[in-house]
Amino acid sequence: MPNGPFQPSWARPLEIRGVRIPNRLVLAPMSGVSTPAARSIARDAGAGLAVTEALSARALLAGRGPAPVALANLPVEERLAVQLFGSEPEVLADACQQLAERGVSWIDLNAGCPVKKFIRQGAGAALLRDPSRLARLVAAMRARFDGVLSVKLRAGWDASTRNAPDLARRIVDEGADLVAIHGRTRAQKYRGASDRALIREVVRAVPGIPVLANGDVVTPADVASLARQTGAAGVMIGRGAIGNPWIFGSALAGDPEAETALPDPALRLRTLERHVELVNRTAADPEARTRELRRYAAAYSRGLPGGRHFRVRAMAVREPEDLVALTRDFLSGAGSREAA
Ligand SMILES: Cc1cc2nc3c(=O)[nH]c(=O)nc-3n(C[C@H](O)[C@H](O)[C@H](O)COP(=O)(O)O)c2cc1C
Repeated sequence: MPNGPFQPSWARPLEIRGVRIPNRLVLAPMSGVSTPAARSIARDAGAGLAVTEALSARALLAGRGPAPVALANLPVEERLAVQLFGSEPEVLADACQQLAERGVSWIDLNAGCPVKKFIRQGAGAALLRDPSRLARLVAAMRARFDGVLSVKLRAGWDASTRNAPDLARRIVDEGADLVAIHGRTRAQKYRGASDRALIREVVRAVPGIPVLANGDVVTPADVASLARQTGAAGVMIGRGAIGNPWIFGSALAGDPEAETALPDPALRLRTLERHVELVNRTAADPEARTRELRRYAAAYSRGLPGGRHFRVRAMAVREPEDLVALTRDFLSGAGSREAA
């Protein structure tokens, strides 16, 4: 039989509880970054799934904070996981029910965020050192939610308690369908490297359960090596996708050329224009719109000649229209500067 075209393992569809995603490359939850516009662009560029930033279950129920903004955009979003944080089983269970009523089919529990605001309330990475609470949360969520329930872990609290494999077993026993794992401890925050051997241990700890490996993927080659070295079912990409949504398509195609090629300025410009269009529809208010456009104008200019100077200027611009004009100017001139 002739060999079919090469299809990397992460390009295969995944189906859990009747929810199907076309591949196993996932845009990571990133506060202030994985916005509705960015999620949409990532999916268009090839991501199989995009996860929201962490939303407080309590605020969601009270109708406060960024949660309602995210929810307002839900009807048009497919291939979406909503990430919740919290520490009270009943609150998380109620939030799950409310999300299910709005048609959300995938909920992710944050058990890794190292930020003090989370830790103080016993949420995020605090759950890494409170396995029985983590188990209770998952059980309570499972009891009220029939969709896909995943949990995003870090390696452990610190170097002496790298307990993610045990935690993974425990949450799967309570009914979690999938585990995402960032191979750093809470104490490391973003220092050092994401530990692939530890991720592999998590994969082995929960046979038959898909695991998403996460940490330090910046090129399609990183996707391949992380998947191969860990045996994970899929790969979650965070910082490497900021301003570079094309990483998803290149990794799906297994395109070796894409390893070194910078996305061309014309493509960046088209993507920025699409981003602006989406932000105009989805940003909570003009401030949020400016914040997001500044962040992404900077991100889409990464690696281009004159980019640093452009970013300094962009940070000083207040009006969204001026920022867009400045970025268009920069990106449309970038091709000729590059060729020069
Ligand atoms: C700006 C920023 C915001 C983040 N916000 C969240 C979040 O809300 N929830 C979460 O689980 N992880 C969050 N993370 C962690 C990422 O999802 C991811 O685990 C981490 O960045 C490592 O992956 P990477 O090396 O591909 O970026 C955030 C990371 C960054 C850089």
